[in-house]
Amino acid sequence: MPHGVPLWPLLLCFHLASTQVIANTRQLVSLLSEQFLTIKGNFSGLLDPQLLRYRLASAAAARHTARHAAAELDVAFCEAAPRMLETKTEWKSIDQFDFATHCCDPAKFDSLGHEKCFPEWPSWPVRICCAHHLSKPSYFKAAWKVLALSIFDDEVLEEDRPRPPVQNQVKGIMAYHKSGVTLSTELVGNVVPGPLTRLLLKDPEEKVMVPHDFHVTKFGDHNSPRGGRPVITPFFQAFTRTFSDLYTQDMIIHFSNPLKSREPQFQDFMRQGAGKLLHLVRRPSDMILSGYIYHRQNLTTGEEWLRFRNPPDCLSCDHEAWSDIFRLCGFRCSYSELLQNLTSQQGLQVEQLRSRWDILKMLENAHAWRDLDHVLQVPMESFRQDFNGTLLCIARFFFSRPVEDESADAPPEFRQFLEESQLHSPSFIESCRETLQRGGRCAAAPPGEDEAKFVYRATTHVAAKLEKKRLHAELRRTPGWRHFLPFADAALEATLQGSPTRRIFGCPG
Ligand SMILES: *[C@@H]1O[C@H](CO)[C@@H](O)[C@H](O)[C@H]1NC(C)=O
Ligand SMILES: *[C@@H]1O[C@H](CO)[C@@H](O)[C@H](O)[C@H]1NC(C)=O
Ligand SMILES: *[C@@H]1O[C@H](CO)[C@@H](O)[C@H](O)[C@H]1NC(C)=O
Ligand SMILES: *[C@@H]1O[C@H](CO)[C@@H](O)[C@H](O)[C@H]1NC(C)=O
Repeated sequence: MPHGVPLWPLLLCFHLASTQVIANTRQLVSLLSEQFLTIKGNFSGLLDPQLLRYRLASAAAARHTARHAAAELDVAFCEAAPRMLETKTEWKSIDQFDFATHCCDPAKFDSLGHEKCFPEWPSWPVRICCAHHLSKPSYFKAAWKVLALSIFDDEVLEEDRPRPPVQNQVKGIMAYHKSGVTLSTELVGNVVPGPLTRLLLKDPEEKVMVPHDFHVTKFGDHNSPRGGRPVITPFFQAFTRTFSDLYTQDMIIHFSNPLKSREPQFQDFMRQGAGKLLHLVRRPSDMILSGYIYHRQNLTTGEEWLRFRNPPDCLSCDHEAWSDIFRLCGFRCSYSELLQNLTSQQGLQVEQLRSRWDILKMLENAHAWRDLDHVLQVPMESFRQDFNGTLLCIARFFFSRPVEDESADAPPEFRQFLEESQLHSPSFIESCRETLQRGGRCAAAPPGEDEAKFVYRATTHVAAKLEKKRLHAELRRTPGWRHFLPFADAALEATLQGSPTRRIFGCPG
């Protein structure tokens, strides 16, 4: 940091002067995070005095960061924030207080920070202060080392790992950003039940719910951290969608971007046997290629976080990555702008930083669940290689019909599921995209769906083969390739190969 620019006295000035300085709402709004405003939608109820003080501190942090193009703040600023807010309730004395552990620990708070240290989310101080405290030594590197050791050193499965009894009321589908959220949304259904929901539930409610919190019988409540605010409207992060059966009360829960949290999350209930879970995973290097191509587009619709500049956002990235990414533009650009301004090699390196925390969580979960009978892990590649075979193995898994029990013909409900799902096949969408690029038409929109919407998806969510090939070569020249990606790819492969569930239900590959 530029020495001699202590920030926290500035904070105190704001604290003392706050109510006089802020003469009107417009002046206040100009200091607020745009992401916060997007989430809140309007300005009423924003003037709570304690929060106002905090927001001003946040604005001071933002200005400091932008002015000095550095996120390495005076440590006193970060420690002053929780002290001023009298948040010492969880530790007995200030001597026991450790900022990284109590305010930032990603194993407890993911990328959100403790709400007592950072009452507002999203805000600049969460990112700035946590990046500062977690990067020396690097939290991410340490976490990756622990995971890699457990994957590569622990070849033999412990045969007597306790297997929980599994209930059958909940059927879960879980994916990460760029590991099949779009595809699984089509299969589960967005506003009306999709093919998979129609297969699994007798009488699905014709209505999707997006609850932040829900109750899983005998397992407890799933409460989203920060009251569901990590859910970025319209639902790109840590969302859940549910459909339920009116007769049996069975539920389908579609879950995206699981968070780590002190509170048990949906994935924790599932691991304990609350139901069967389809875990959609993807080869890390493909996640990065796909993420880079998608995030680099100058989209004016869709994922809002791509366009946030105050503070800039990289979705569920780790704090240290946030700091390393946005230092490149002096903390004055959005993620999408940054990618548009970088060469593809630089951009691919940035996308590796952005997605490494998701990749770590994905690999951790895949490894923890590798031998559980009630979790089926399916890589995205499988849908591309053998769409029908992959759908059949998913259907067999949810209906508990091992592959050898089945006669040569799939039952009629499975065949119907296949027929209804064809439009969502990645290779079909890809060919549709290629037709469009040649100036042809792709008129095969799903029944009841807008053709324009279908075509939009075909052009934004699926990358062209040639472009992917070129970018893959670029990816191999990035520093991340030397240090991280080949190991991450190998880790996923090792985990999937060790999974007996995939064999039992006849999954391809
Ligand atoms: C603004 O937010 C308040 C509280 O959340 C809500 O009651 C009110 O209807 C909102 N106003 C508008 C115009 O959306
Ligand atoms: C991105 O789109 C916006 C709005 O359409 C436009 O103003 C801006 O110039 C575009 N940026 C680039 C780099 O093309
Ligand atoms: C992108 O690069 C141009 C030219 O170097 C520069 O003027 C602009 O400020 C940059 N934008 C961002 C968001 O970094
Ligand atoms: C997949 O299943 C659908 C529906 O039964 C069928 O029309 C299609 O030909 C199958 N595709 C392949 C590659 O077998």
